[in-house]
Amino acid sequence: VTVICTWRGDVTNDELNRLHAEAFDTRIYSADDWDWVDHLNQHSLGWVVARDGDRLVGFVNVLWDGLVHAWLQDTMVASGARHRGIGAEVVKVAVREAKAAGCEWLHVDFDEHLGVFYLDACGFSPTHAGVIAL
Ligand SMILES: CC(C)(COP(=O)(O)OP(=O)(O)OC[C@H]1O[C@@H](n2cnc3c(N)ncnc32)[C@H](O)[C@@H]1OP(=O)(O)O)[C@@H](O)C(=O)NCCC(=O)NCCS
Repeated sequence: VTVICTWRGDVTNDELNRLHAEAFDTRIYSADDWDWVDHLNQHSLGWVVARDGDRLVGFVNVLWDGLVHAWLQDTMVASGARHRGIGAEVVKVAVREAKAAGCEWLHVDFDEHLGVFYLDACGFSPTHAGVIAL
């Protein structure tokens, strides 16, 4: 089955909470703890859903400032589906759609080991960035 990536595709809270737990080694939040669907609809420019048949295999959330800056958050691919180009493909769709929405910059931050993924496979340029643990 070919993996299909859809901008603002349908996805459920349970699917996203399960994928997030697998990708980031967290507990599986319930829809009461983390209502992804409501949050995506209210705050995101959009998001990309990758499905292998019915199965959710990839996702990325695209936040924005309402005009020219957009950010990637929670890029994730199911562990059994990695290294097949799905991560790079969901990011490619996010780049295309952020550009189509008029954004001029797409940002992402990541741990050093993911430089190969974001810089080489996805085409990001390195930049200075900062973060504060809250
Ligand atoms: C990062 C992630 C989304 C990549 O998804 P993927 O579908 O495996 O990525 P791709 O198949 O498109 O990878 C393309 C290339 O990027 C590089 N790459 C991918 N994952 C990598 C990783 N975890 N570490 C280092 N390089 C990686 C490889 O060069 C890869 O090519 P290869 O498969 O021929 O080795 C996936 O590993 C994941 O969900 N990780 C856990 C969650 C996470 O850390 N997300 C990022 C938060 S900033």
